[in-house]
Amino acid sequence: MKRSTRIERLAEYYEDFAPDYVSTWKDIQHYDKPVRAFLREVVAEGARVLDAGCGPGHLTRALPPTVDVVGFDIAEGMLDIARKKRPHGAYHLHDYHLPIPRSWGRFDVALALGTLEFCDDLALVLTNLAGALRPGGRMLVSVVERRPHVRLHERAARSLSSVDLKGVSMYLYTFAEQTDAIQRAGLLPRSYRLHPGWRHTEYDVDVLYALWDLEVPRSGR
Ligand SMILES: C[S@@+](CC[C@H](N)C(=O)[O-])C[C@H]1O[C@@H](n2cnc3c(N)ncnc32)[C@H](O)[C@@H]1O
Repeated sequence: MKRSTRIERLAEYYEDFAPDYVSTWKDIQHYDKPVRAFLREVVAEGARVLDAGCGPGHLTRALPPTVDVVGFDIAEGMLDIARKKRPHGAYHLHDYHLPIPRSWGRFDVALALGTLEFCDDLALVLTNLAGALRPGGRMLVSVVERRPHVRLHERAARSLSSVDLKGVSMYLYTFAEQTDAIQRAGLLPRSYRLHPGWRHTEYDVDVLYALWDLEVPRSGR
């Protein structure tokens, strides 16, 4: 399936999911704590934060009003909720496979959480996000780690669901593929850890996340 068709289907799915997203997701996701800890550590007064695949904007909504939050997503319904909940934030319809528009300015911090499972080219997407960060900028991303000996990890892409979203894939990356993509994006890894991502109730499995804290080098880019 072409990327554009897949993204259209995914956007429709998340459009429908938007009103119930936060209440449903809080029961099945496991990465809230590390995200909060990261934001506490890196977001200073007046910082600019980019929230990629922001959904309804709930991860960055409670940041102090002095923080300039810019979120983007492919589902307009998600963005509508994000705008209502943080009226002084800026929320845009945008696909992370495309470069971040220059007009959004440069950021100190970026998040891409719970969303890179839909990314079919990790190096490209990390490059796009890195390009929006200032030197020394920090980024927290979750990537579904592929471990070929694990059940359901046999292929690098598998159907997200056999019930909804037929034909829309979820992409898994081996550790080597992740480090290669990080290097190609010109990012420095500060930390890596494996963390349960979310409960895939249909497949009855916890999706395994690699959580990467990445930094844009201060010089030489
Ligand atoms: C599971 S939600 C995650 C929302 C939020 N980041 C969180 O962690 O709770 C996935 C979001 O990624 C968005 N998304 C999927 N593909 C995308 C793309 N190519 N560009 C931007 N957003 C995308 C979806 O529309 C959806 O809102």
